[in-house]
Amino acid sequence: MQANIAVLPGDGIGPEVMDEALKALRAVAARYGHEFTFTEGLIGGAAIDATGLPLPGETLELCTHSDAVMLAAVGDPKYDDPTASVRPEQGLLGLRKAMGVFANLRPVKLYQELLHASTIKPEVIADVDLLVVRELTGGIYFGERGRRTVDGVEGAYDTMFYSVPEVERVVRLAFELARKRRRKVTSVEKANVLESSRLWRETATRVAQDYPDVEFDSMYVDIAAMRLVRYPSVFDVVVTGNMFGDILTDEASMIAGSMGMLPSGAIGAQKPGLFEPIHGSAPKYTGLNLVNPLATILSAAMLLRYSLELEAEANAVEAAVAATLAAGYRTRDIMQVGGTLVGTREMGEAVVERIS
Ligand code: IPM
Ligand code: MG
Repeated sequence: MQANIAVLPGDGIGPEVMDEALKALRAVAARYGHEFTFTEGLIGGAAIDATGLPLPGETLELCTHSDAVMLAAVGDPKYDDPTASVRPEQGLLGLRKAMGVFANLRPVKLYQELLHASTIKPEVIADVDLLVVRELTGGIYFGERGRRTVDGVEGAYDTMFYSVPEVERVVRLAFELARKRRRKVTSVEKANVLESSRLWRETATRVAQDYPDVEFDSMYVDIAAMRLVRYPSVFDVVVTGNMFGDILTDEASMIAGSMGMLPSGAIGAQKPGLFEPIHGSAPKYTGLNLVNPLATILSAAMLLRYSLELEAEANAVEAAVAATLAAGYRTRDIMQVGGTLVGTREMGEAVVERIS
């Protein structure tokens, strides 16, 4: 197969982890006889530095004309000033919106070798294998916002808006995915307080009727946050709004042992998809060859599966990651007594050697 892949390394540790993911994709291409063409684009702080814009038109053009997009991380403390008008994160949000990738698939899988790295007791998390489907192009991330002075006092507001079709398409996708897993969907919102959540619950409950073969329940987000760390193995597919999904997946990454272990893939009605680790740009670790590249490598596996439909190749990358962990290789975030401490590059190379 011939595929054009847009590569957006972004900021901080982004370029380092991206290098390792590209090595894995090149190894797959060589072993399975594919031809992948990688074209780099600017996004985030790196793009602001070079062009003044977090998402230059050229980058968007590159992404929409590719078969799939790999992104590493955006964010730079240099642009943290709350009064700044241009921020790196706007590049990422703008890209997700422009690509129409409304569903962000965030699998949470615990490797048995990493039980020690989890913050949760082994008996609680022994068989965790869940998938969070986060709505990605709507909700409070994209609603109207601003500053307002009320009775002489300064304030600010953000709006959480969801339309029925926006909820319906992401919930439907969650049900379709559940059919390929353990056939259970939990829809998460805050319907005891928020009107947009009541619309979400009504819509999800209606969609559920089309899937009588899939178990369905609705849960408030605070309860879900608690259950995630108390009874995580009750979850199969969790579908939720943009902000709740952002928060719950960072929480869930502690089950898996590290933010450095969780990949994601964002898909929409059409190709291309957008694949990125859930972690950020970790500026203080930049250039130190310290961070864990596995989340980005596993995101590349998701790219193979969901955008290129290369299931065997995706499995080969995931199996190589599992074999690398089984062989004892550990970056600092998942280190344990008796493990072999390696850097970003060495971890990437250990995975590449095991891709077969
Ligand atoms: C994520 C990140 C982003 C988000 C930030 C960097 C804008 O936290 O992908 O989870 O909030 O979506
Ligand atoms: Mg996040």
